[in-house]
Amino acid sequence: MNMRRIVACLCALLLLLTPLVASASTLTADAGVTTVEMSDTLYGLFFEDINYGADGGLYAELLQNRSFEYQDILNPQRYQHLNGWAFNLSAGAKGKATVMTERPLNENNPTYVRVTCTEGEYRFANTGFQATVLKGGIPVEKGKTYRCFVYLRNAGDFDGTVEVALTLRTGKSLAVPKRFTLTDEWVRYELTFTSSYTEDAVLSFIMHGTGSIDIDMASLMPADAFGADWPNGGLRADLVQALADLNPSFLRFPGGCIVEGSYYRSNFYDWKDTVGPVEERRENFNTWGYMQSYGLGYFEYFMLAEAIGAAPLPVVHSGLLCQARDVLEPNLSYDEVRVYAQDILDLIEFANGDVTTPWGALRAEMGHPEPFGLRYLGIGNENWDAAYWNRFDILYRIVKEAHPEITIISSAGPVAEGGLPQNAWRTIRQKYADTIVDEHYYMAGDWFLSHTHRYDNYPRTTKVFVGEYAAHEATVSGRRPNNLYSAVCEAAYMTGLERNSDVVAMASYAPLMARDGMQQWTPDLIWFNAREVLLTPNYYVQQMFAATVGDQVVASELDSINQLVYHVVTRTDDVLYVKLVNASAYEDVLTLNLAGVPDGTASVVRLTGEKSAVNTFHRPDTVVPVTSEMSFAGGAAEINLPPYSVTILTFPLK
Ligand code: AHR
Repeated sequence: MNMRRIVACLCALLLLLTPLVASASTLTADAGVTTVEMSDTLYGLFFEDINYGADGGLYAELLQNRSFEYQDILNPQRYQHLNGWAFNLSAGAKGKATVMTERPLNENNPTYVRVTCTEGEYRFANTGFQATVLKGGIPVEKGKTYRCFVYLRNAGDFDGTVEVALTLRTGKSLAVPKRFTLTDEWVRYELTFTSSYTEDAVLSFIMHGTGSIDIDMASLMPADAFGADWPNGGLRADLVQALADLNPSFLRFPGGCIVEGSYYRSNFYDWKDTVGPVEERRENFNTWGYMQSYGLGYFEYFMLAEAIGAAPLPVVHSGLLCQARDVLEPNLSYDEVRVYAQDILDLIEFANGDVTTPWGALRAEMGHPEPFGLRYLGIGNENWDAAYWNRFDILYRIVKEAHPEITIISSAGPVAEGGLPQNAWRTIRQKYADTIVDEHYYMAGDWFLSHTHRYDNYPRTTKVFVGEYAAHEATVSGRRPNNLYSAVCEAAYMTGLERNSDVVAMASYAPLMARDGMQQWTPDLIWFNAREVLLTPNYYVQQMFAATVGDQVVASELDSINQLVYHVVTRTDDVLYVKLVNASAYEDVLTLNLAGVPDGTASVVRLTGEKSAVNTFHRPDTVVPVTSEMSFAGGAAEINLPPYSVTILTFPLK
C-alpha cells in the first residue's frame, strides 16, 4: 500500500468514526497562474448502434425490418425475414406471406415478401419496435404527420387495390388511408398520414381483392424528424436534442465492436454499404444481435456531426474481425489489407473530396456539395498485438502518404492496465507518435476515484483519446446502474482529464444510448423508449463539464482531510471555472481562496442526491443539476459540498 492509500484509509476511518462531523477543506488558486493549454476537443460523443441506438433509436424509421433482410447473428444462415411483421390480421380473411428473392427490388436488397389473398381482406402489417400481442410498436401522436413510402408490385394475378393504412393492431384506422392499383413492376408509392389519435400503431397493407402482391422497402417517419429534408429521412428529434445539449466537440462513429463485425468477413462494417439511396444500402447483421438497416449511414453521421457542431471522427476496421469474439473466417491478409486501404481513401474522398471526384460527387448528389471537413480517422476499434499493428502499419502509411492532413487514431486495446496497453504504447511511441491513442476502459467507480492522476505522468509527446469509459457498479435487477455514485466517480476522474488536457485531447463516455428493454449493455448515458428520453446522472455530469471547458488549467491546491474531494480550476479570458467533486458520504466545508477573481456573483451548478439514486421514466428528475448563485468578495468564500456531489462554480473575470 503506498503512502497516499494509507492516508486515504486513515481519513476514511476517521470520517467513519465521526459520522456527523463535516470535513473542512481549503482550495487556493490564482486566476493569473496557469499550467497547461486545454484541448478544444476534450468532450465529445461516441455513438454506436448498440442497444438499438440507431435502428429503433436515433434513426427516425418507425418500421422494423422494413425490407425483409433480417437475419440472426448467432445463426447467420437462418434468416428471420418476417421479424417485425404480423400477418393474417383480419378476421375471416385467408391468405399467406411468402419470402421471395426472384426479381428483387435491387441486388443489395434481395429479399421481399409476396402476400397472397385468397379470401376476404387479408391484412399484413409492420408492427414497429417493441410491439406486444395487443399493441403495435409505432408511437403516433394525435395531429402529427408521418411520411410513408413503400415499393409495391402486382405479382401477376392480383385483381384489386391495396390499402396502406395506419391502424391499431385490431385494424381500427388512425388516419386517412390510401389505396393503390399496382402494376407488374416495382413502383415507389408515397403518402402521408396525419394521425387522429395518440396510439401504439401498426402500418397495415390491406388487400381488397384476391391474388398476390409483392412488398418491399416500406418506411414510415415523423414528418418533423430532425433532418426530415435529408434525402433518406432523418433522426429522432428528441434524441438529437439530447446530443446537442451535451455541446460535443466531436462525434466518434459508427462503433465500437460493430466496426469490426463478428464471425464473418461479410460482417465487417463497410461504409460504402451505408451511403446512397436507403433502398440500395446492403443491410447487415449486428454484433449486438440485431439488424442494421444502415438508414443511419455515413452521410447521416456526417450530417449529424455538422448539425451539432461536432468534428466527425469515423472509425474503420483494420482488417481484423473483432478480436474479443470467436471468428469463423480468417482476417484480411496483408495483401487484402492493401486493397482494402482504397476503401479508406475513398471514405476521405467522400468526406472531403471535390465534387468532381467520384465519391465527392456522391456526397454532392446526396445533398452536401461542401466538404464535411474530416480531420480525424480511427483505424481499428479495440485491437492489440502484432495482428493489429502489422495491418495498422499498412493502412497508416497509405493514408498518411495520401492525406498527411488527417490525424489517425490508433488503438490501445480494451483494458486500462497491464500488458495490452503497455505493449500498445511501446509500439505507438516508437512508430506512431503522431497518432492519438484510443484507450478504452470500463471500471468500478472506486477505480476511477483512485486513478484521477493516471495521466499526470504520461509523456506529453503523444495525445490520448479516452474513447470509451464508464464507471461500472454492481448490477441491480440485472443492470449495472446509472446511479449518482457512478456519475460522481466519473466527475472526479474528469477533473484529472481536465488537469491533463494538454495530453488528453478527447474523451467520450460509452455507450451513449439504450432503448429501454432492448439493451445489450449497461450502463448507458441516455435511455429512451418509444416516446420518451431519460437523462441519467452520468449524462448531467458530461453536460456540466462540457459546458464549462476552459482554455487553460489554473494552478491550484486543495488542502483537505477528506481524500475523496476532487477539484480542477480552469479559465477562459472571461471566466474562471472551479469544479468540485465530493465523492464521500460526508459534507465538506470548503474555503475558496481565489486570487485574481473580482468581487461579484458566481453561478453554482450542482448535482447531488442519494448515493444510489437513479433517474427513471417515472421519476426522471430524481437527480438533476440545480443552479444557484453565490456572492464572492475579497478573494474568498465558503461553500458547502454535500456528500456525493458535483459542483461547478463559474466566476466572471471581467
Ligand atoms: O461500448 C460498448 C462496447 O465496448 C464497444 O462496442 C466496444 O468497443 C467495447 O468493448
